[in-house]
Amino acid sequence: MQAYFLDDQTFVQFRAYIYALTGIDYNESKRYLLDTRVRRRVRETNMEDGPSYLHFLKTNSDSQDEIDLLIDQISTHETSFFRHTNQIDIFESLIDELIAERRLSERKQIKIWSAACSTGEDPYTLAMIVQEKLAGESGWDISIQGTDISSGSIAQAKRGRFSKRSVRNTPDPYLSKYFVQDPRDANFFTLSPDLANAVEFDAISLIADTHTTKHNFDIVFCRNVLMYFDDIAKKKVLTMLWRSLVPGGHLVLGPSDSMHGLSNSFQRTPHSVFNFFQRPHNSAATIATPPTAQAPTPATPVEAAPSLPPSSIRDNSQSIQLKILIQRLDRGIRDLRQDLDNSLGKTIDAVSTITNALEILGEKENIDPNSRAELRGVDRQLMQILLFLQVGDRTQQKTEALRAALQELSDHLLGTGKKATDLQVNMTSFDKNLLPPDAQNGQTGDDDTMSQDDIDTFFD
Ligand SMILES: C[S@@+](CC[C@H](N)C(=O)[O-])C[C@H]1O[C@@H](n2cnc3c(N)ncnc32)[C@H](O)[C@@H]1O
Repeated sequence: MQAYFLDDQTFVQFRAYIYALTGIDYNESKRYLLDTRVRRRVRETNMEDGPSYLHFLKTNSDSQDEIDLLIDQISTHETSFFRHTNQIDIFESLIDELIAERRLSERKQIKIWSAACSTGEDPYTLAMIVQEKLAGESGWDISIQGTDISSGSIAQAKRGRFSKRSVRNTPDPYLSKYFVQDPRDANFFTLSPDLANAVEFDAISLIADTHTTKHNFDIVFCRNVLMYFDDIAKKKVLTMLWRSLVPGGHLVLGPSDSMHGLSNSFQRTPHSVFNFFQRPHNSAATIATPPTAQAPTPATPVEAAPSLPPSSIRDNSQSIQLKILIQRLDRGIRDLRQDLDNSLGKTIDAVSTITNALEILGEKENIDPNSRAELRGVDRQLMQILLFLQVGDRTQQKTEALRAALQELSDHLLGTGKKATDLQVNMTSFDKNLLPPDAQNGQTGDDDTMSQDDIDTFFD
């Protein structure tokens, strides 16, 4: 059985503390992650144990730097320029429309917020695109803000120096125009001062700093962070994001973030059925009342149930089958992710058990200095492996990429103007009469023809 560094009570206290700060829920299944991350900080700060470390965090007026370091360790900061290119393409058309509209209204102003922006690649990407679109046109007031809970990430964003990996998806014309490759180390790129000055950064939490809520944004990017929160935290953040937008403003979530069942205050946009949302144009401008109470029912609620194809394609059995296949794939990918998470968890458990044993061995008094040094070396290596396994979260990223590809495919095949394929649709909300005749009769066919049983299993 796994021997934890934090006893049960201290784990519960840390879990609540981290949740209140970040919205990230380290439930029992992720206990090993929290345990090793806290253990590492306790060791590096030379604190006595978990409870004294927590006491320090909560009560010491000088603890802010350490809180920042802990938050840095417990969150995933993966990001890159031009991440999820299909979403960036859609952003381009949004910006085209906004610029055209603002030119007409002569209010040449655009406000964009990249929330949970990690080391800044998202807001800088958006800034580059806006600059390209405006091509130096005068009279514009463009505000692009990037925020993240991690002050370390924000400091890095402000430095404006990025690795080759981080710019790997950047189209060449952008790379040569907005970056300078380090002449001494070709693995690094520095932003042009013009672009570096185009984004303002701030370290704030989407959960704990809601009093600093930002307002009047035309577009908010908040990608790949909601997926780490539980439903309560997600709802809180979605409410805050709704308020931060102007009526008609757009919210962009990451491909794996879901609004399913959490808010009906946003509506879908014609730009994409996946994770582009809009605060309705006719919603009250006031921000004092929660959107669920204030907002009129949107014309096309995000989570409108049942999720049926529009009547124009009701007799189109191919569309229905396509939808079923897409849902089947989505289910497969989610199962894959679950399996991968479980295996990763077991591996991390095994490695952390070994590091615990090594630590106990290394503390024995009768051990000779050479062996002690060797043990420390092995322990350091294992810690690095642990960090790689935890922080890397490569498996998650791969499955996210798969889901993003699936969503893109669905956009293309089913069309963005049509009602969204609700990837978590429940069979009870699905009109069985819409199924092709074979499926209604429960006949099994080849892969393209679903039996009723088949379909039921996809929608359970
Ligand atoms: C995976 S990165 C996403 C970066 C970027 N949005 C993207 O999609 O490429 C998640 C970021 O969310 C930040 N984060 C986690 N909890 C947060 C919170 N409560 N408030 C603000 N940022 C948070 C983390 O520090 C991390 O940098």
